[in-house]
Amino acid sequence: MQANIIDYGMNAEGVAKENNFIYFVPYALVGEKVEIQIIRQYKNYADAELQSILSPSPKRQSPPCPYFYDCGGCSLQHTSYDEQLRYKALLVKKTIKKIAQLDCDVSPTVSSDKIFHYRNKASFNFSIDRAGFYKQKSKEIVDISNCLILDENINKVYSLFLQYLKGHQSIHPNIKNLVVRAINNHVLVGVVVKNHIDCADFYEILKEHFQYVGLYLVVNTRKDSVVLSGKTSFIAGTNRIEIQNFDIKYAIDLLSFHQTNISVQNKIYTTVLDYIKRDEIVINAFSGAGLLSAICAKRAKFVYGVEIEKNSHNEAEKLIKNNKIKNVKNILGDFNVEYKKINKIADALILDPPKKGCGKDILRQIIGIKSIIYISCNPIALSKDLQFLKNDYIIEKVIPYDMFPNTNQVETLVKLKLKENNNDYKH
Ligand SMILES: C[S@@+](CC[C@H](N)C(=O)[O-])C[C@H]1O[C@@H](n2cnc3c(N)ncnc32)[C@H](O)[C@@H]1O
Repeated sequence: MQANIIDYGMNAEGVAKENNFIYFVPYALVGEKVEIQIIRQYKNYADAELQSILSPSPKRQSPPCPYFYDCGGCSLQHTSYDEQLRYKALLVKKTIKKIAQLDCDVSPTVSSDKIFHYRNKASFNFSIDRAGFYKQKSKEIVDISNCLILDENINKVYSLFLQYLKGHQSIHPNIKNLVVRAINNHVLVGVVVKNHIDCADFYEILKEHFQYVGLYLVVNTRKDSVVLSGKTSFIAGTNRIEIQNFDIKYAIDLLSFHQTNISVQNKIYTTVLDYIKRDEIVINAFSGAGLLSAICAKRAKFVYGVEIEKNSHNEAEKLIKNNKIKNVKNILGDFNVEYKKINKIADALILDPPKKGCGKDILRQIIGIKSIIYISCNPIALSKDLQFLKNDYIIEKVIPYDMFPNTNQVETLVKLKLKENNNDYKH
C-alpha cells in the first residue's frame, strides 16, 4: 500500500496515519510518499516495511556505512544532519508532552562538531563465528570490520584483535567482548572472557602500534548483557588515560564512567557552569570521575560530588588533589542515602543519573532545593522524573544535545526552578 509519512516515532522510524490507524515505517522520512508492506498488525497500529520510495525527501541521503541497514548501532545515517537535529528536538518535546503532560519550549538541538569518529568508547560483541555489533532489537551479531562513528584508534585495536584471534583460535570461543576506550591517542583495551585466558602477547602487538596503551582482562561469568563486570586484572602498559580539559587534569581507567563524545560533553558542561551562581553551594549527584564537580567549583562556593562507583570516586579524589581544588568534597555512596546528610545547606543540585533516571525515592527527597540542573541520556526516564517534579518546579530551559550523531539517542539538559510558593518547603 502507499503511505504519506507525516511524523517520526520514538526510534526515528517514519509514521503514517490513515483513518486513525498508524503505520510505523523504519527508514522513511517525513514528507516522503512511500510504498509499504505491513509485517505485524495490532489493534491501532502496524509495523511496516519500506518497499520503495515514491517521492524522496530532500533530507534523504545515502548512508555512508555499508552495515547501516543491518547493524543496530545507528538509525539515522540515511537522514541529513540538519534533519537529525530537528528530529531529536522534536523527540524530546513529544516525549515530555506525552509522559509528563508538559508542553514546554525545547531549544534547537546543539550539534556535535564531529558527526563521524566521535565515540571514544566501544564494546564489540563476540560469538563463536561472529564479531561486531547486535542487530536492532536482537542478540544476533552483525559481522563488522570497521565502524564509522568510532574513534579511528578503536577501529585499529579491533582490527588488530581480529587478526590476533586468527592466530589464537583456541581462545576465540572464550571471548565475550572487546572493550576499547581511546582519547587523545591514549588507548585502553579490555578483553572480556568467560574463563581466564593468557593474552599478554596481545599487549606486545598493541605496543607496536600505540605509544600509550594498557591491556586489561575481565573474567565475566554473568549471563546478562552487563559487559564490564567480574574479576578485572590489569595486564600491562598504562592503566589510565590522562586528560586535560577546562584546565583541569584528570584520568580515567577502563571502568570509570566517561561521556563518549567529549566535544558535546564540554558544550553541556559550559552551559551547566553558566547556570551556577557565584557563592552557591552545589550538589553534583551521580558525579562520575569528578570533572563536572571541578568545573562547577570554579564558580561555586563549595561543591559536593556523590558517586557510588569506587573507581570513579577514587579518580575524582585524585583529580581534586592533583589540581589543588579545595572547595570540592567527593562522597562515595548512594545518592539516595547521602543526600539527607548534605541537602540542608545546598542551593543547587545537578542530576546526571544513569539511563533509568532518578526515580521517585530520590525525587521525593530533593523537592525543596531551589534549583535543579538535570542532564539525561534518556528522554523517557527524564519525562517520568519531570512528571514527578512538575507540581513543585518550573521548567526554565530544555536543551537537547547531539551527543550521539547518526543514532536515535539524545542527551538533554533541563533547568528547573522551585516554584515561588514552595520556597519555604521543608527538606
Ligand atoms: C550518567 S553517569 C554521569 C557521570 C558524570 N556526571 C559524568 O558526566 O562523567 C551516571 C553516574 O552515576 C553513578 N551512579 C549510579 N547510581 C548511583 C547512585 N545511586 N548514587 C550515586 N551515584 C550513582 C554511576 O556510577 C555513574 O558514574
